[in-house]
Amino acid sequence: MTIKTPLCDMLGIKYPIIQAAMGPFYTTKLCCAVVNAGAFGIISHTNLIGVDPIKDMEESIKYVMKNCKGNFGVNIRVARLQIDAPGLMELIVKLRKENPEIKKRLKMVVTSAGNPKPPAQFFKEKDKDLLVFHVTPTLYHAMKVDGLCDGIICTGYEGGGHQSYERVNTTVLVSEAVKNCKKPIVACGGFSDGRGIAAALAMGAVGVQMGTRFIATKECEFHQNYKDFIIKSKDSDTMVCQGAFGPIRLLRNKYAEHHGEIVSKDEKMATEAELDVEAIQEDTKKYGLVYEGNVDEGPVLCGQSCGNVKDIPTVKELIERMMKEAEESIKKIGKFVVA
Ligand SMILES: Cc1cc2nc3c(=O)[nH]c(=O)nc-3n(C[C@H](O)[C@H](O)[C@H](O)COP(=O)(O)O)c2cc1C
Repeated sequence: MTIKTPLCDMLGIKYPIIQAAMGPFYTTKLCCAVVNAGAFGIISHTNLIGVDPIKDMEESIKYVMKNCKGNFGVNIRVARLQIDAPGLMELIVKLRKENPEIKKRLKMVVTSAGNPKPPAQFFKEKDKDLLVFHVTPTLYHAMKVDGLCDGIICTGYEGGGHQSYERVNTTVLVSEAVKNCKKPIVACGGFSDGRGIAAALAMGAVGVQMGTRFIATKECEFHQNYKDFIIKSKDSDTMVCQGAFGPIRLLRNKYAEHHGEIVSKDEKMATEAELDVEAIQEDTKKYGLVYEGNVDEGPVLCGQSCGNVKDIPTVKELIERMMKEAEESIKKIGKFVVA
């Protein structure tokens, strides 16, 4: 017995789990481990200081093609400030056109952090077989994406990394998106075990996407200090601060304390247009610090699910454990239905 959802057929995977993109850091090796374990891996949109995101993406795609056998995807952040997004979009179309094996295996682009319309139209025109999923934080955004993309990744406020100004939680968002949208919904934000996967499927999602849980795995290329910080943190140890593209969920450290938590619902946060580009560039250097292991003086992106992440298994061990737990949970709740 196994759990199989329409997402498995769509992406050509065994398990309905997507490993989240976690730029500006690398998830290239993590992606290979996830693919080899039967789930869907994503290469992140990297832009640490000194990195050429387009050249970097091409190298990561080649690495993944060589080091695992199944299907995978890439993330492109499409916010207005993300000036490398059009180049990345062109690169994906070019590589898929030139190489039939890449066309077969690079199945999906996940767009995020901006307007989904231009990239969706671009890919529909230039490469209609490529699947495009977009990440959305509210029902309003999900309904806008419904007519544009092949799937919707509904990500709630408990998740790690950039968050929306609207602060809608995953349980609320997934249920309403399933009810109001026609496209498949992937639940994201706060998932870290098989019980969560079972709950997402019960809400009507076709699968889950997870970031924080996958950082704390042996194969993830994040620094050991990052992994250790996650496993010693509680559910209440994250803060939402002002980040480069809006609010961002971080682990509480010197850097986050300095930026200060956005506490009030009505508190004014800088809009994208108001953000100071120089300050953002200065901030980007701090991501490099974190990637090198200084988890006090830079932004340690992390979701509230850190409270439930207490070990550093291999990706295969983690995925098999979560799927077994999801199956058991589904069987258990099935018994609650009585004549
Ligand atoms: C370290 C880190 C970096 C992230 N970077 C990106 C990114 O570049 N693009 C993106 O779409 N989402 C990014 N996210 C969000 C994740 O893709 C995903 O939505 C989130 O991790 C889900 O919540 P979870 O951490 O509770 O699983 C990032 C999250 C983390 C933890």
